[in-house]
Amino acid sequence: MEEVERLLVVDDEGPILHALQRTFEAAGYQVTACADPAEALERLREKPFQVLSADYMMPGMTGAEFLAQAKALQPETIRILLTAAHDFSAAVDAVNNGEIFRILAKPWNRVELLGTVRQAFDTYALRERNRQLTAIVQSQNAELAALNKGLEALVEERTTNLLDGMVAVLDYRDTETQWHSQRVSRFTKRLAQQLGINDEHILRTIEMGALLHDIGKIGVRDAVLLKPGPLDTDEWVEMREHPRLGWALLQRIEFLRDASVIVLQHQERFDGKGYPAALKGEQIVLGARLFAVADTYDAITSDRPYRKAQAHDAAVTEMRRVAGTQLDPQGVAAFCALPESEWQAIRQDVEKISLLEQEWGWTPPKRVFEQIHEVAGFSRSPKPAFTERARSPKPAFTARAGTTLSNTLSQARRSVKGGRGPRPVARAAAEGASLPAPPRRRLRRRARV
Ligand SMILES: [Fe+2]
Repeated sequence: MEEVERLLVVDDEGPILHALQRTFEAAGYQVTACADPAEALERLREKPFQVLSADYMMPGMTGAEFLAQAKALQPETIRILLTAAHDFSAAVDAVNNGEIFRILAKPWNRVELLGTVRQAFDTYALRERNRQLTAIVQSQNAELAALNKGLEALVEERTTNLLDGMVAVLDYRDTETQWHSQRVSRFTKRLAQQLGINDEHILRTIEMGALLHDIGKIGVRDAVLLKPGPLDTDEWVEMREHPRLGWALLQRIEFLRDASVIVLQHQERFDGKGYPAALKGEQIVLGARLFAVADTYDAITSDRPYRKAQAHDAAVTEMRRVAGTQLDPQGVAAFCALPESEWQAIRQDVEKISLLEQEWGWTPPKRVFEQIHEVAGFSRSPKPAFTERARSPKPAFTARAGTTLSNTLSQARRSVKGGRGPRPVARAAAEGASLPAPPRRRLRRRARV
């Protein structure tokens, strides 16, 4: 539908006002004529006009004042000033303050007047179209930005899930404790929080750096990584490359660049006797120093093929002994400031993931695990001490009242958008069928690196 072209004409001299009105109406415009500038401002408050033509010399208000007020009321309106030749220098104010499209001299040339008004309407239409297109572009940019953000989050989540799987495989291959990296990651994050860090990005960086600390071992040969006896000199050189290999791997993943520094420095020692760069004290990033504390605690309190797990107190004694040499004293103090129950709760939280893995036959992504944790509130009964879990019979899930494991698994399956749900083995578990025994792990005894 073609829009009506509305023109507001203001001139205090009646014959001139009528002459202008007749001229413009004859050209097809819808004209509103006002002899009083105050009345013209009222009309501007009532409805929009594309073009405004005003006299310069008017009673009660100069053309400059009128056009400035008109601009404030309708900034998009195209403004034309009609002025006698001797008013020209005074009209400069109107141009500067009212942003005039054209100045026309009285008496006017009809062709020039109508041509100028036509140009004014065309200019208004072009600007209006430009405003509409700009609004569309801005809206589409906002949609695109939201879409990109969603895609980035999706890439981050899927990359994290992939890395989670790689870390689980590495842990399983290397340390016989598949959940070592998950525990250490959570321990390290908790230590950072204890030191007052609450920035989400920093905490996420520390958590991911600790989780991926040994990802570089993917590049260490089995003959070295899995060697049952002590490593020779060349083998140590290869093994000690794993922080750099992990760092190099993570350089390719933008959202993990910050975390890659923790991976690079995770084998450094507070006293400068670590590797690969023999960094000392605060030359080592805080995340890597806290990781070392968490890693030491987990190593002492976890079962190994060649020794049993030790108690929390024994770990604390050992960590205090090496504070200032192997470990950052600040990190050890932060650890000791929290009660044993806090650390056990984190350990048990990770155990719940391992239980789900046994039930499902695959490891739930963190997001799904958290949802299940919230929905089902499952627990083990009776709850064995965490150091005894490997020898305990496989526990059963206990759901909250009104929530069955089957429901929970169904919810989880639905929540894995575009991915696969629990495998048939998990459904069988949900229906009470017996599950195949998990694969047995080979026992090995070798140096910890
Ligand atoms: Fe390592």
